[in-house]
Amino acid sequence: MSAEETKWTAARITEMKGRQKLACLTVADYCMARMMDEAGLPLLLVGDSLAMTVLGYPNTLPVTLDAMLHHTAAVARGVRRALVVADMPFLSYQVSTAQALENAGRFLKEAGADAVKLEGGSLRAPTVRALTANGIPVLAHIGITPQSLRAMGSYKVQGKTPREAEILLQDARDLAEAGAFALVLEGLPAALGGAITAAVPIPTISIGAGPQCDGQILVVHDLLGLFEGFTPKFVKRYANLAASMKTAFSAYRDEVERGVYPGPEHCY
Ligand code: KIV
Repeated sequence: MSAEETKWTAARITEMKGRQKLACLTVADYCMARMMDEAGLPLLLVGDSLAMTVLGYPNTLPVTLDAMLHHTAAVARGVRRALVVADMPFLSYQVSTAQALENAGRFLKEAGADAVKLEGGSLRAPTVRALTANGIPVLAHIGITPQSLRAMGSYKVQGKTPREAEILLQDARDLAEAGAFALVLEGLPAALGGAITAAVPIPTISIGAGPQCDGQILVVHDLLGLFEGFTPKFVKRYANLAASMKTAFSAYRDEVERGVYPGPEHCY
């Protein structure tokens, strides 16, 4: 089996630090997961941003554990090689270590995930330690933590003052020490993304934290241009599918209304 065909594990992701940049994406369904897996992406995150992109909520707070399990299972069915990471939704891991263990376990047992992600800094280190000690790999997540929207007030860039930067550096060290296999850095000045990357032995995966991180992650709907409204500064659109899809929907409507589709070649 070639390296291309080998299944990605959490340990293998960690080993890539300093060797290979990691191109990661969010995903919520079987069809896209298959395509991403075939394109060779090493890590697919069933992010709780699906609350907005797929389910139409205004933020990530309302998405349920059952909904996340449902989408994770669909993604896992489409993947052969990539590491499938399930995002633990708001209040599915904060209540107690026992709650975190039980719910994280469901992602591996019932949905076929390989690992889970949870948000928060040093405060989460005991949870990360308990999960990893029980065989559940954890992707940590600091910087903008969207599940704390009500406390943060908005999705503003974090770590801009020396004090904030120092706290984030300590968060990163504590999470790495607790056993996280990698660390998502969201919405940080690029220099701080670089400093955290240099300070920890695990890969950092940036979403708006600059090019010095060990990997990048984007929300797939942003990358594909599936939303036509506001695009955050860090997003690069690699396609403009909203326009293409609307053109296809209109052409179909037009042909049905004019009796052009189905033609003789589509009939039994
Ligand atoms: O839910 C999400 O999309 C995330 C990001 C890190 C991409 O958590």
